[in-house]
Amino acid sequence: MAIRFDSKSKTFTMHTSKSTYQIKIDDQNVLLHTYFGSRTDESDFSYRIVPDDHGFCSQPAENAWDRTYSLDFYPQEYSVHGNGDFRIKALRAGLSDGVPALDLRYDSHRITDGKYGLPGLPAFFAGKDDSVQTLEIILKDLYEEVYVSLLYGVFEEKNIITRAAIIENRGENPLKIRRAMSMELDFMDGEKELISFPGKHTGERQFDRRTLHHGITEISSTRGTSSHQQNPVVIICDKGTTESYGACCAISLLYSGSFQIQAEMDQFDSVRIVCGINDDEFRWILAKGESFATPETVISYTDNGFSDLTNGLQDAMWSNLIRSVWKNRKRPTLVNNWEATYFNFTGEKLLQIASQAAEIGLDMLVLDDGWFGKRDDDNSGLGDWGVNEKKLGCTLKELVDQVNRLGLKFGIWIEPEMISEDSDLYREHPEWAMVIPGRDPIRGRNQLILDLSRAEVIEYMKQAIDRLLSIAHIEYIKWDMNRSVDNVFSAANPHLSQGAVRHKYVLGLYDVMEHVVTNYPEILIEGCSGGGGRYDAGMLYYVPQIWCSDNTDAIERLRIHYGTSFGYPMSTVSAHVSVCPNHQNGRTTPFKTRGICAMQGSFGYELDLGKMTEEEMEEAREQIALYNKHYELFQRGDYYRLTSPMDNHDFTAWSYVLPDGSKASLSVVYTDLHANPKPLRVKWKGLVKDGVYDLDGKEYTGTALMQGGIVLPKPQCNYDSYMAVIERIK
Ligand code: DGJ
Repeated sequence: MAIRFDSKSKTFTMHTSKSTYQIKIDDQNVLLHTYFGSRTDESDFSYRIVPDDHGFCSQPAENAWDRTYSLDFYPQEYSVHGNGDFRIKALRAGLSDGVPALDLRYDSHRITDGKYGLPGLPAFFAGKDDSVQTLEIILKDLYEEVYVSLLYGVFEEKNIITRAAIIENRGENPLKIRRAMSMELDFMDGEKELISFPGKHTGERQFDRRTLHHGITEISSTRGTSSHQQNPVVIICDKGTTESYGACCAISLLYSGSFQIQAEMDQFDSVRIVCGINDDEFRWILAKGESFATPETVISYTDNGFSDLTNGLQDAMWSNLIRSVWKNRKRPTLVNNWEATYFNFTGEKLLQIASQAAEIGLDMLVLDDGWFGKRDDDNSGLGDWGVNEKKLGCTLKELVDQVNRLGLKFGIWIEPEMISEDSDLYREHPEWAMVIPGRDPIRGRNQLILDLSRAEVIEYMKQAIDRLLSIAHIEYIKWDMNRSVDNVFSAANPHLSQGAVRHKYVLGLYDVMEHVVTNYPEILIEGCSGGGGRYDAGMLYYVPQIWCSDNTDAIERLRIHYGTSFGYPMSTVSAHVSVCPNHQNGRTTPFKTRGICAMQGSFGYELDLGKMTEEEMEEAREQIALYNKHYELFQRGDYYRLTSPMDNHDFTAWSYVLPDGSKASLSVVYTDLHANPKPLRVKWKGLVKDGVYDLDGKEYTGTALMQGGIVLPKPQCNYDSYMAVIERIK
């Protein structure tokens, strides 16, 4: 059993294949966190907590006379504001007298088979053959009828533990929640480093590693989305942890709105991590009988370094989070017309691109922004999802039928959450836009945001999508979202509830997405928010792939893909070959390099195929054939970061290896050139040690390729690249 309760020591011990997590109910019925780390036995680890009279550490109500007991330094499972703990807390809530004070004590618990669910929120699920257990620990306030259920889903073989909390008010008076985190993790030893993935539009998820010092470190977004600027996944590791060595733990929040991850090193060098919805602007009022569920967090731990950690977590995301049927199907290679035409296209132009796409062996045409309403630039039209037949020169059905006749599938772009002031929808329903009354709205990309906390807006959005999907044979949707959520105000919510609107927006979004995925399970949906502004584990519950960045430059993508690979399966990355000089940064790279880089994800092109040279057309044909041939390797192989683009300035290398080691790729992009160069070598990972592999007609053992590595060919030009696929022959 993955979860055990020892009634003598009053400990809950949860085991995964690589970790053990322990909680103790102490003599005061407080829930203490006693251990999380390498898998161990079921000893009562509370001996690690040392009572002491530390001074200026308060005692909770029932412990007034024992000055060695203080929640100010005891490691806890779900700390609350107002009981003598002065560190960052998991929960801050109080009754209507305005004092945010609770004192939670153990009430009861349940251990059940299977995985708990969180209605309306994304959550990991148990697969058919998974042995998964749920632990629910119910805490109750010492004074009031306030209950908190801590939920743990233990996926033993998958090496993950999920967490969430449900707060319930059974008392007469409303409970005001000011902060409700999904989880807390108190490490008694504080010598830790924290890795996060900050960025910007066109430069998402850059790898950032720091040593934790005293005080609070915060990784967060207040933008209403998980954001380009920060990402809701962090890795906590021992100093010196590498790809193949060291203790590390990943924490990922399944949430697509404003989030907050805080790490505090306290006065005794312990580290507390909390993670959940950002408490900035958050207020939630629970009336009698109501409850509030936090989003889910997933935690994974290993002693064996980052490759093991991230491959394990990503396998679990693949099998137990992503639901789309497309995860197990060959996804179409495609051409997207955005960088080819932007808003300036006609049906004829699209058909020209489609016929060239068919000629080089692509599977799909994706029609991007500009096909609907009055939308010849990005200042108008959002909300009016009627087809602009004048611009297309035909109906959407006629266009799609012609594309299908060319042997291609058809995909379409939408941005359903937005509204332009210059749109019929706004003229009809200005109150559906989130705008603070009496103030000029804050605009982003000249557009406003629809109020998804309103049921009628959710309904409108579902109907608009249903209508679109009924008029033509659409097999793919690119779901975009192009601004940060600012000046949030819902005309439908009373003033006191405005603090709930941001979270209700996310719940509304999930509601619409759930409608689409359940009613159109065959449609492949690509998430997008100006590229990777909403690349989070919550989204992956609804979409199997995400447009990774609006930056299509192969060299900048090296860092973006590198950072993304720590938090998310590479099979969820969407990457395209675009034109040079690159539209975002003006850089010129070889066509071959752009192809190799884009094969790190769902592969496609984003350029005017008609402007390609014959030579490029031929290269594209070869790239598509190569990608199709090794699709299983790129989609289902374990991903190894062989070098870091931050540390190695000469080249970046990565590899995919099929789980049984029978086939592996090596991709290298040279990022600098030198006169009189030194030999460049790179070592493979994940091969079968005593297997024999064929590389360019020569035999190498797995051990040789992993320990000795290979000598790379010399780069012949700026940003040259190299790719090899090897198969095990013995
Ligand atoms: C942002 C996306 O990331 C782009 O790929 C493109 O779809 C534009 N929006 C269209 O407005």
